Order: sequence, then C-alpha cells, then structure tokens
Amino acid sequence: MLTINNEIKERGLTVRRLAGAIGAEIKDVTISPDLPEETIAAIREVWLRHGVVFFHDQEALGPKAFADFARRFGEVTEYPFVKGLAEAPEVIPIIKLEHETTNFGGLWHTDTAYLDSPPMATLLIAREVPPYGGDTLFASGYAAYDALSEGMKRMLGPLRAVNSSVKAETTKTREDRLRDSARADAQDIYEAEHPVVRTHPETGRKALYVNYGHTTRFAGMTEAESAPLLDYLFTHQARPEFTCRFSWRPGSLAFWDNRCVLHNPVNDYHGFRRVMHRVILAGDRPA
Ligand code: SIN
Repeated sequence: MLTINNEIKERGLTVRRLAGAIGAEIKDVTISPDLPEETIAAIREVWLRHGVVFFHDQEALGPKAFADFARRFGEVTEYPFVKGLAEAPEVIPIIKLEHETTNFGGLWHTDTAYLDSPPMATLLIAREVPPYGGDTLFASGYAAYDALSEGMKRMLGPLRAVNSSVKAETTKTREDRLRDSARADAQDIYEAEHPVVRTHPETGRKALYVNYGHTTRFAGMTEAESAPLLDYLFTHQARPEFTCRFSWRPGSLAFWDNRCVLHNPVNDYHGFRRVMHRVILAGDRPA
C-alpha cells in the first residue's frame, strides 16, 4: 500500500517511485560490497521492475568498494575510450570541469550500443555536483515500445539497426575526456548491428533499442532512407511520460538496466564542476 510519501515495501526494501513509467529510489540501504545475498537479490528484483534505481547518501562508498558492489550483480567490464582510476581501474571518471561547455554523453543514448555485446547495466555515483542542474534523464525502452501502434510494432519487428561510436555529436561529448584520459588501445571506430526491438533476457519484455547517440541507419538501408523513421523513433522514445528525472547529491548512486533504459545527462551548469564515477557490467548480444 502507498504511504503519503509514495513509499511502498518491495521485497522488504522501502521503495519510492519517481514517475509512472520508470525509476525508483531505494531507501534505507547502505550500499556495501558485503550486503547479504537476499538484499542483493531484492535490489535486483526492484531494479528489473523499475529499470533504474537510485540510492542517496552513499558518500562512504569509495571507488574500489563501488566496483566490488557492482560485481555482486555481474561481471565488471571496461569502457573502450576512457582510462580507469589509478586506485580502481574498472571505475572511470565522468567529469565536466568548470571551463568546459560539453558534458560527457550529453544526449539520449544507451551505453556503448556500438559494441557487439553492450553492457547489461551501468552504475554511476556522484562525487561532486554543481549547485544546481546536472540532473540525468532516464527513459523506458519498454514504455516506448508498448506505446507504438500494432502496425509499427509489426514493421519494426524484423528490422535491425547499425550502431556506431562515431556519430559526430556523440564524439564531441567525449573530446574533453579524451584529451586527458584517453585509452591508448581504443579502436578508431566500433560498429554493431542490433535488433531494433530487443527482448529482455530476464523479464521477457520487448524494448525499443535504437538511440540518438549511436544508431545511424537500418541495416540494408542508407542513412538518408533511414532518417525519417529513426527521427520519429528518437522523438517518440523520449516522450516525457516515458521518462524520469534524477537530481544528484554527493553520494547519490544510480543503477540502470542498459538493455531497456536510455539516459541523457542535462548540460545546464556551465561554470561548475560535476564529478561522477562509473562502472559498467558485461551484457549479452541483444536478441
Ligand atoms: C553517461 O554514462 O552517459 C553519463 C551520465 C551522467 O553523467 O549522468
């Protein structure tokens, strides 16, 4: 039953939904790599239900413990472009400095959809936040798919799309970090073809799996031929009713399911520093 604060008990956790389609805050949990197995299982169940879960007040979770907590949910894997922290190489910094004007990943995307097996999940913890702004928007690929007409679902069903690491707007969002933290072993380009509609391997639900940041065209079609329908889908999947918005505090942690959730960090805090740490978990080949 909902309380006045919109809180509910799910698997023994106190959960507050942020919006209709996606997103829930889990309260009263102090994140640690040593949480009991039943708490980890409960977090996973709530996460699968809501797509992205949030925790506040986790400042005490250092980079290594952050990576070890992530490991309780899957295999920690590497991001191809940016070097990890010296003390925890699996953790990459996501930073915008005071003098910078572009934020990392500042457009709607799912993480590294240009890899053959994109990450299952992303965990992001805030270390320094601006005095205002710097929120992250999340959108449900399930809600976007469910809202399509039966005719559109039928048409998209057999289609595949090409996802690339070198769309110009996305490349620009990496430039500042590549200047100071580039990995020497990164390829010039990563490209992968994935189904436009993927079936989530754990929930069995269908999600729209194209994104503005990486999807360039439908397989077997040119970019020009693909653009009208892709543009429609990019607009459709970011409809406000499919989204939630998360405001960070130092120590806030977000954990999203990269198989069915898009995100878009808002670049509205020029002149201030925002420092986050990110870990990604290995995923399977979308099907
Ligand atoms: C990202 O992983 O794309 C960054 C998200 C953020 O900075 O909020």
